[in-house]
Amino acid sequence: MQHTTDLNGRVAVVTGASSGIGRAIAIGLAEAGARVVVNHRAGGDSQARGAAVVESIQRSGGTAVAAAADISREADVDHLFEQAVQHFGRVDILVNNAGVEHPSPIADMTLADWQRVIDVNLTGHFLCARAAARAFKTQPPDPSRQNRSVGNILFISSVHEVIPWAFQVNYAASKGGISLLMKSLAQELAPDRIRVNSIAPGAIRTAINQPAWDTPQALAKLLELIPYGRIGEPEDIAQAAVWLASDASDYVTGTTLFVDGGMTLYPEFRGAG
Ligand code: BGC
Repeated sequence: MQHTTDLNGRVAVVTGASSGIGRAIAIGLAEAGARVVVNHRAGGDSQARGAAVVESIQRSGGTAVAAAADISREADVDHLFEQAVQHFGRVDILVNNAGVEHPSPIADMTLADWQRVIDVNLTGHFLCARAAARAFKTQPPDPSRQNRSVGNILFISSVHEVIPWAFQVNYAASKGGISLLMKSLAQELAPDRIRVNSIAPGAIRTAINQPAWDTPQALAKLLELIPYGRIGEPEDIAQAAVWLASDASDYVTGTTLFVDGGMTLYPEFRGAG
């Protein structure tokens, strides 16, 4: 059997790639042979971290370029895709990863808290998916990959696209939205040979959920929610992303792959209920 997780020749845009899951995915796709656009927020820490991801890819012999953009802004997203085409001539893979959390009890949640999460996690993903679809439909197909997808969109969703999350109604609503955004897009774009899927990570060791794992007590409490008995690592998601971005999964579209150590299996029902 031919090994088809090779991404040689393909160009991937990864949003929110300066840290956490996005960083691991950018590195994973580059290791598989893709040329990667490492998107990050403009300025400060994000800029420096984005540059560090690019350097680390280049040191390992890969190809990458950093590109600043706030994905919730239409003009930034258009510019991000222009930069990708300017650098690498085309775009084959979008990993819609950038996401934020602004938790708060509902009575205290400001409109700004709500809006920022929806703007980045849902509207930002729409804007990037639209830009990717436009590129996929207009660029010439890669002649080395006949009968395969002409474009691939991958959403990084969350277990909270199905698990309700008190104090994070904005976040859960954005991820629930991604579930049907992804499926509707998959239905719309399949005839164009564009594949659209999601990965729903569970608890992954990154900065976004640090308080949930950085003390032994917090980690023990978190592990009660994970039947598989360990926290996830960003590389667990990167492996799944490489597979979903590659021709090894060519017949897969409209699917959410849960990579969560069983968090969505309702572990509290073991021996109960
Ligand atoms: C959130 C994390 C959380 C995990 C499991 C993710 O989507 O970003 O903060 O630990 O879901 O609850």
